[in-house]
Amino acid sequence: MAKEKKENNHLVFGGVDMVELVESYGTPLYVTDENKLRENFGSYKSAFEQAGTNVDIYYAVKANGNLAILRILASEGAGADVFSAGELHLTKFAGIPAEKILFNGNSKSEEDLREAVESDVRVSVDSLDELRTLSAVANELGKEVEIAIRVNPDVLPEVNPKIATGLKESKFGIPFYEVISACEEAKKLDNISLTGIHCHIGSQILDVSVFREATEKMMDLVERLHGKGIALEFVDLGGGLGIRYRKEEKEIAPTPRDLAEAILPVFEKKMKELGINLKLILEPGRSIVGATTILLSRVNAVKLSPYMACGVVVQSPTAYKNFVAIDAGFNLLLRPVMYDAYHEVVVANKVNEQVSELYTVVGPVCEAGDIIAKDRMLPEVKRGDLVAILDAGAYGFSMSSQYNGRPRCAEVLVCDGKVDLIRSRESVEDLIRNQEIPARLM
Ligand code: LLP
Repeated sequence: MAKEKKENNHLVFGGVDMVELVESYGTPLYVTDENKLRENFGSYKSAFEQAGTNVDIYYAVKANGNLAILRILASEGAGADVFSAGELHLTKFAGIPAEKILFNGNSKSEEDLREAVESDVRVSVDSLDELRTLSAVANELGKEVEIAIRVNPDVLPEVNPKIATGLKESKFGIPFYEVISACEEAKKLDNISLTGIHCHIGSQILDVSVFREATEKMMDLVERLHGKGIALEFVDLGGGLGIRYRKEEKEIAPTPRDLAEAILPVFEKKMKELGINLKLILEPGRSIVGATTILLSRVNAVKLSPYMACGVVVQSPTAYKNFVAIDAGFNLLLRPVMYDAYHEVVVANKVNEQVSELYTVVGPVCEAGDIIAKDRMLPEVKRGDLVAILDAGAYGFSMSSQYNGRPRCAEVLVCDGKVDLIRSRESVEDLIRNQEIPARLM
């Protein structure tokens, strides 16, 4: 089928013709390939398990919290990193066992902490304030809660500053120099059982050497705690492995195996020196779901620069641009606007056509910044064409909004030619839901 459709000029994804798919489901539409998802998770498991490491993969739910995706990952043995009571609820609903859930967050309310304790999940404690409140909450509920201390390791990855999370000036975690005393305090607190330390240094990291640096710092803490008679059960090194968004250029993304090769020697060596055995926890989000999903969007209008309309290509920063206006904007995929992120774009009904024109692909939102893809060479685009935005599975739908009165789009799962709806398209009813007009205004 795939071959036949390629000859048809149509993009095939998960064994399904994308042009035919949108005839049934409409646009915009997120499409996730189940096989790719299972493969990505499997490549983590095999990279670390083959090395003989005692590892658990806690998928970072914030990247994509769709229940079908969580259910698939649960069936593959994933645990979960959750960052709110809502994400905790989703993971429990999807069948991820409580003993494989870590409740993260730098600003947890008392209700959040209560929810975590009642759900019997571990909590990554981000501050001394939280540590003391958690102890009081657990006390009140008559339960013991297992915790990790979230460490701010002060490691600088080369990524967009908005997604670097382990720098001195980052809001996350307890400063490196205070971690030992925080652990000592945790040991003394009622109903608290300190079992691990946790860090997460950032996202879309393409150079694995920073993971090694973070591992060295974390294992240094393990050693110092060991020296004080504080034994841990696990070290959680967070997520952050980048993926290859730029296909044409020479961007190279590391694999889970590269990550394993960078961190395991440090991890194993220190355990051997100390004669201890720890579980390693990782929290990948993007590298599990990013490349599994595309966002399909219809072209509503094409605007050609005056030169272009005369058949002359002018590539100057001061010339009017050629715009392709599609029906998905930063309401559905915020990354290009928020992080200057690059997503490959293809014309899904013209995949075999030569690229010939330079276009800027923009969304329908009433903001000049609503640009999905800047200055891209594409085949000649017409109103009604179908654009596919690639690698949209991580922080795509999960960061979407209803801005400009736009109901959120549907999501489908494809697998070997089969299609399942995994989230219905919202309607205008969803814009009105939960709003009230006070009676005196009626
Ligand atoms: N663990 C913790 C504690 C995290 O804060 C994050 C992501 C992860 C794991 C997963 O990181 P990943 O493997 O996905 O890089 N919205 C941004 C990314 C924000 C990441 C926030 N934390 C983006 O679209 O690039």
